[in-house]
Amino acid sequence: MATVGDYKLGTLIIEGKTKQVYDLPQVPGHAILVSKDRITAGDGVKSHALEGKAVISNKTNAKVFEILNCAGIKTAFVKIATDNSFIAKKCAMIPIEWVTRRLATGSFLKRHTGVPEGYRFYPPKFETFYKDDANHDPQWSEEQIVSAEFKVNGLTIGQTEYEIMRKMSILIFEILEKAWATRNCALIDMKVEYGVDENGEILLADIIDSDSWRLWPSGDKRLMVDKQVYRNLQSVTQSDLDTVKRNFELVREQLDHLIPKNDNMVVILMGSPSDSDHCNNIKKHCTALGINVDIRVASAHKSTEETLKIVKYYESLPLQVVFIAVAGRSNGLGPVLSANCTSPVINCPPVKMDNVDKDIWSSLNVPSGLGCSTVMYPEAAALNAAQMLALNNYMIWSKLRVRLFDNCTSIVKADQKIQKA
Ligand SMILES: Nc1ncnc2c1ncn2[C@@H]1O[C@H](COP(=O)(O)OP(=O)(O)OP(=O)(O)O)[C@@H](O)[C@H]1O
Ligand SMILES: [Mg+2]
Repeated sequence: MATVGDYKLGTLIIEGKTKQVYDLPQVPGHAILVSKDRITAGDGVKSHALEGKAVISNKTNAKVFEILNCAGIKTAFVKIATDNSFIAKKCAMIPIEWVTRRLATGSFLKRHTGVPEGYRFYPPKFETFYKDDANHDPQWSEEQIVSAEFKVNGLTIGQTEYEIMRKMSILIFEILEKAWATRNCALIDMKVEYGVDENGEILLADIIDSDSWRLWPSGDKRLMVDKQVYRNLQSVTQSDLDTVKRNFELVREQLDHLIPKNDNMVVILMGSPSDSDHCNNIKKHCTALGINVDIRVASAHKSTEETLKIVKYYESLPLQVVFIAVAGRSNGLGPVLSANCTSPVINCPPVKMDNVDKDIWSSLNVPSGLGCSTVMYPEAAALNAAQMLALNNYMIWSKLRVRLFDNCTSIVKADQKIQKA
């Protein structure tokens, strides 16, 4: 039996222009995707051997999917298997290319004469193409996709599924756009594909590599480092291919620097240890968003010096810090913190419903010169802190963004279920 790395290969499920997909008899529900040293364009009309491309593509894809998995996107990617292969959930693929664009360029300009190159779309422009090399992947509308009634691993692709994949494509684009922005690189447009796993769940599948997107360093088209360089070549020399490969390698290298620094911190200060449950609740929500949390006991009234010392300690660390003040009855804590530091302070008093109307004013009616905010619920405090930290950390931003998508999707699915009942 043939092997790739430690994996025994089953049947060849499908072979395309750039990859082979094998069943993995020893890992049920999974497949191994082996990349080829081949670059193609124009539905395979242009095609060249490019030594080393498989390894670069495999590593690029793995980094991109690791980012998306970490952000909470449901993907088929599991892990790298060897230099030129990876393990994925075995999917029945939906034969559609889902394209998202921030700026108008390329084929969009030909299909929309009069629109200047660089026209900016917000939200990103969304387009779909039916995967059909023989007919040059024709553009399909939502109505055409829904009417095709694709049946994939027991799931029929209807309006709800279309809408989920539309939203998910834009979400994925925005995450990767934010990630690339940290390297001063503009993500111009990109293409993704979806599959359905054996449980009937829609997953981002196939691969994302330098073939999938346009990337313009410093937002300058002349500096492009994606496959467009290859597409644009009239005749292809070895030196052209070397340039294309160098660009791909550059992108792969840059991806290593895309993981944000782990320099965020929420410090929850409670006036009394009796508020531990409330604080742990805040912590739970922070942790789910990838935020580091310290919980301390400090009373502005009773241990004033120590409280200010704690503030100075956290402000001395090379961290982005947000303080959350948890103090019942008269909340002196939050306002005192706010008056003595420049970090954001969020009051989240553990108010009881029978005296909320009295106690809440100590958090709201603060002296002039103070800028602390007040929220009532532990989840709201965590989300508010996350939004502040997300300004400097695209991974926290992405987790927040995925949350919005998940909230919407779960309601849409619940509605779909009740309609079918
Ligand atoms: N997780 C997965 N499970 C099963 N099949 C997959 C998975 N991810 C990708 N595939 C499929 O693997 C096949 C081979 O990929 P490849 O990119 O080489 O095809 P291709 O020649 O580009 O043709 P295509 O235009 O269909 O992408 C594609 O049909 C793709 O849909
Ligand atoms: Mg493909």
